[in-house]
Amino acid sequence: MKKRIVVIGSLNADFVVSVHRFPLPGETVVGHSFTVFPGGKGANQAYAAARLGGTVSMVGRVGTDAQGSWLREHLEAAGVDVNFVGEDRTVSSGVASISIDHAGQNSIVIVPGANGTFGVEQLIESRELIASAAIVLLQLEIPIETVYEAARLAKEAGALVILDPAPAVEVSNDLLALVDYLTPNETELATLVGMPLEVEFDERSIAARARELRARGARKVIVKLGVRGALLVTQDEEQLWPALKVATVDTTAAGDWFNAALAVALAAGEAETKAGMFATAAAACAVMRKGAQPGELTRAEVEELLKRQQSTSC
Ligand code: ATP
Ligand code: RIB
Repeated sequence: MKKRIVVIGSLNADFVVSVHRFPLPGETVVGHSFTVFPGGKGANQAYAAARLGGTVSMVGRVGTDAQGSWLREHLEAAGVDVNFVGEDRTVSSGVASISIDHAGQNSIVIVPGANGTFGVEQLIESRELIASAAIVLLQLEIPIETVYEAARLAKEAGALVILDPAPAVEVSNDLLALVDYLTPNETELATLVGMPLEVEFDERSIAARARELRARGARKVIVKLGVRGALLVTQDEEQLWPALKVATVDTTAAGDWFNAALAVALAAGEAETKAGMFATAAAACAVMRKGAQPGELTRAEVEELLKRQQSTSC
């Protein structure tokens, strides 16, 4: 049985400042810490999946700068196969400017750099690797044509496709039809269904919007709802996976740890509900620490949190 998880997506250097509150337009505020962390939605998912016990390959692009080497090495040290992380000599590696407020919420600007030049031609070089995948994890920080082709190759090879439609952009029905699990947060959900970003969804309208996306082709939808958890919508049912109560330090990449853990559990043959609970626990462990790829987060910790949660809810 195939077990490999192939992540096709971005690698970024995250320049992170902590502030009490985000500045208003035109305002300057004084922050209280600055750190550069490895990041990028693709790399975060690859790193997290490897830390949680998956067999993982990363496909993506960096620049020929120091950040590019550092990002690759960080993944490799976690056990991720980086043979298909290529280099582009003409642009810098991707970067993200991230502010974290006192509640652990973030505000992010990304500059794609080499992620933005990762075209279909480079992707095709990893065709055999994609064909060996049980699960392919995708996000939207590389060109959409590349994401589409990756999903197409994955489906052709019989792999399960999990698409994190982040950052929020509209997506074609052709792409949705290749997706087994679509995992938007609320902002991304609003964008996908053409609603204003400020709209406040209640649980019923979230499920209705998710069903719209199913009708457009996505097989299953999991809407990520931050502290409220995540809602799975399939043809037959809806399941709410409540978030675990933990001390929130930094929510950056909670969604990446969620998707990675879901993939690890599904690749190991776990049932959907169990995979969802594992993903919820992994995401909770991630929000308790700073940075998108925290080195000290282990599978043992995730299992321990799950066990504690289950014993208190009995
Ligand atoms: P990001 O873009 O920051 O990576 P996201 O917006 O895609 O994340 P969220 O809904 O914020 O996704 O988080 C994903 C999952 O992480 C949630 O469904 C929930 O299970 C868990 N989670 C998020 N925030 C918290 C929190 N403060 N406490 C516990 N669990 C959380
Ligand atoms: O999902 C979190 C990631 O989004 C950060 O690591 C940052 O690089 C942005 O891509």
